[in-house]
Amino acid sequence: MAKHALLIRGARRSSLRRAPLPLLHRPCPQRHAHTTTVAPTWRPSSALDEWVQREARPISLRQLTYFGRTLTESRLLDSANYCRLELPTRIAHRLRDIQTLPYVVVANPHLAHVYELYLRAFERFRRIPEIRSLDDNDKYCKVLEETLREHATVIPRLAIGVLEVRALMRAEETDKFIHTMLRSRISRRVIAEQHLALTETFNSPWHFPHAQPIHDPNAETVGEIFLKCNAKEIVGRCGKTTQELVKRAYGSHLEIPEININGHLEATFPYILSHLEYIIGELLRNSIQAVIEQRKFKDAKPPPIEVLICETSQHVIIRISDQGGGIPNELLPHLWSFTKGPRREKRLENLARVPKLLGTLQELQIPGEPHAGNVEKHGRKAAHTETSQPGGSLSSLTSRPPNLRLGIGLPMSRVYAEYWAGSLEIHSLEGFGVDAFLQISKLGNKNERLTTRATMDA
Ligand code: COI
Repeated sequence: MAKHALLIRGARRSSLRRAPLPLLHRPCPQRHAHTTTVAPTWRPSSALDEWVQREARPISLRQLTYFGRTLTESRLLDSANYCRLELPTRIAHRLRDIQTLPYVVVANPHLAHVYELYLRAFERFRRIPEIRSLDDNDKYCKVLEETLREHATVIPRLAIGVLEVRALMRAEETDKFIHTMLRSRISRRVIAEQHLALTETFNSPWHFPHAQPIHDPNAETVGEIFLKCNAKEIVGRCGKTTQELVKRAYGSHLEIPEININGHLEATFPYILSHLEYIIGELLRNSIQAVIEQRKFKDAKPPPIEVLICETSQHVIIRISDQGGGIPNELLPHLWSFTKGPRREKRLENLARVPKLLGTLQELQIPGEPHAGNVEKHGRKAAHTETSQPGGSLSSLTSRPPNLRLGIGLPMSRVYAEYWAGSLEIHSLEGFGVDAFLQISKLGNKNERLTTRATMDA
């Protein structure tokens, strides 16, 4: 960190734009020449350059399900080797993205910290030789678990980092950068957690790997994928937990709006439950808080939150409607941005409180992170063990105090929604309330979405 500061102070203005961090690989010495403005030329001279040449191989929920459904030793080893090659490839691309940011941006302590974590992970992962045996796999899983744990604070750090540097880059560029970082992070965690979950299933006492391949037609989960997410049950459970959290934050004297659920109550689809719980938890929390805050000083019973579930041949759409007064017009253009908007100063102040809270990781859900609740074990939550008992605890639902407003809940929810080819839209009726539309692709046959769409309209 001190080195970064020295370099910034010592550098001339022309060199500030694109000089890499001192810890980075330095592909070409011209990049450091302070006396010249020669454009950087990248030579494939480092391991990073080699890995950046590789393309990520995207996957769909359906592929993950079919692959993990019939689990044999050789399939488990294939899964391990897919991870082994895919993780460093995906990290390498993000490292390169960070390297191409202006130097003053990457010198931000939070972004520099994320960079260093990724560089360490890359160096660790790229050196892992082919996984040929279950013993190799066990060792590999330990590395994965440790790295997942180390990366638990990446999202708040990125969120604070991009807010702090927002004056140094165009808002569109900064938003594009954080979207790409977040999608890539979700993708890596999905891959790693799916492999850990498959390994857990393979090693479980009821699985006899040498007798016959495991293929339970009644299985509710394959690794982290919950095969029959029932929209009504999930909204119901997230609703209860959110009501409880809000009650705790505002005091039990306050009446909390009820949540009515109507429509296609039987609709099910395959999904990673923690992703869905995160999105629905954030939407319900926004709605409940809006209603409460609007009616705080009134004695009347608060109007309920109305949830409508609609199933079509390809999608399940969940509409969440509240009468919380709507979103002020001046906030609407910035709803999906991580950096823009009139309340960013306040958000930064709130986000600045997060690192202090990170010390209490066991209790506190990291904002934007559906899995971090169980970091004490693996840096991940074993979702399949909980989700196989619908109605069990909801540790993937964020438990940060509702009055700790970070401003990343909505944009983060959209990142999660779009990740599996869904969408999230908000329609605000100023003075009345909000309708949120979450569309889920219910066939699970769409590849993970790794590239950013232009969310810059918002
Ligand atoms: C992350 O959590 O940021 C990751 O990159 C996950 C990976 C280390 C498995």
